[in-house]
Amino acid sequence: MKSVADDPNSQLNPTEIPPVVLTSELRKVYRTGFWLNQKVVSLKNCSLKVYKGETFGLLGPNGAGKTTLLKLLLGIIRPTSGRGLLLGKPIGDRTVKQDIGYLSENPYLYDYLTGWEFLQLAAGLFQIPNSVQRQRIPQLLELVGLSQADAKKKLLRRYSKGMLQRVGMAQALINEPDLVFLDEPMSGLDPVGRYQMREIILTLKASGKTIFFNSHILSEVEQICDRIAILAQGELICSGSLNELLGGQSTYHVKGQGGDLEILKKWIPTLTFEPNGSWQGILQDDYYDFLASLRLMGGQIIAMNLSRQSLEEFFIQQIQR
Ligand SMILES: Nc1ncnc2c1ncn2[C@@H]1O[C@H](COP(=O)(O)OP(=O)(O)O)[C@@H](O)[C@H]1O
Ligand SMILES: [Mg+2]
Repeated sequence: MKSVADDPNSQLNPTEIPPVVLTSELRKVYRTGFWLNQKVVSLKNCSLKVYKGETFGLLGPNGAGKTTLLKLLLGIIRPTSGRGLLLGKPIGDRTVKQDIGYLSENPYLYDYLTGWEFLQLAAGLFQIPNSVQRQRIPQLLELVGLSQADAKKKLLRRYSKGMLQRVGMAQALINEPDLVFLDEPMSGLDPVGRYQMREIILTLKASGKTIFFNSHILSEVEQICDRIAILAQGELICSGSLNELLGGQSTYHVKGQGGDLEILKKWIPTLTFEPNGSWQGILQDDYYDFLASLRLMGGQIIAMNLSRQSLEEFFIQQIQR
């Protein structure tokens, strides 16, 4: 009989909104070698939760176990031990697949199909009727920024890496999933490609989808994610919102000109002056009040930057630990 401790739902507080992704002590040991006698522990007892509408970033260096966790969640591989729930159903449950989307790390896209044909193929796998496909495919092409002319005429082997990634993204959304898994969606893209991918993810986020993505491109994660977790050598070392992890106490580095210097010093104790008459320093109080006060004094802001630890600094610190 299944004990309460075995049930991932038992981790839930009865008043808590059920997460859309929940893992409890999930572990994966691969067996390798000719006699399958060597063991590789890819994931060690990983417990995490992702809630509806969140953009969740799973970070970690290469080989940390990110893809392994995603494949476990998607039921592509089976856990050695531990449990998980996806949209309330145990991982591996086939009925969940209708409601999720997945862009794999190295998607296999058929060279001799056009983008349109590839999306028709993906839609066929979900048994989406042709009449619905005819409406949905152009909508998805528009969302991912591919022209219908390219999609209909060009074979995938002629697409750039960025275009392939965008077709892959359209494929992941063909069944209108509520929960989307993206494995390294920005890797290998140039800055323009990364920007486009980021914009697509932000559009999905604005439409209320839950996004779970793996990445090692920290600046992108910092701009997109609500919450993150860091995985290193198969172990989850921390998880939380960026504010929680990077320090909720934000300070602002302000640079400006004009205003009453004595009053300014009350707001910015570290005030220093430049030869050209401008001033700068660290503002520690509420910036709304400061800006209102500066305006009354007739002063101006030249630049204002949020200064908190960057995700990159935090990540390196955690990994080195
Ligand atoms: N099919 C497999 N057989 C054996 N070892 C594997 C297999 N897949 C992944 N691994 C190992 O598991 C570890 C985690 O891999 P992976 O999940 O791909 O990491 P990441 O996606 O974070 O780069 C690595 O050490 C990798 O070599
Ligand atoms: Mg990977």
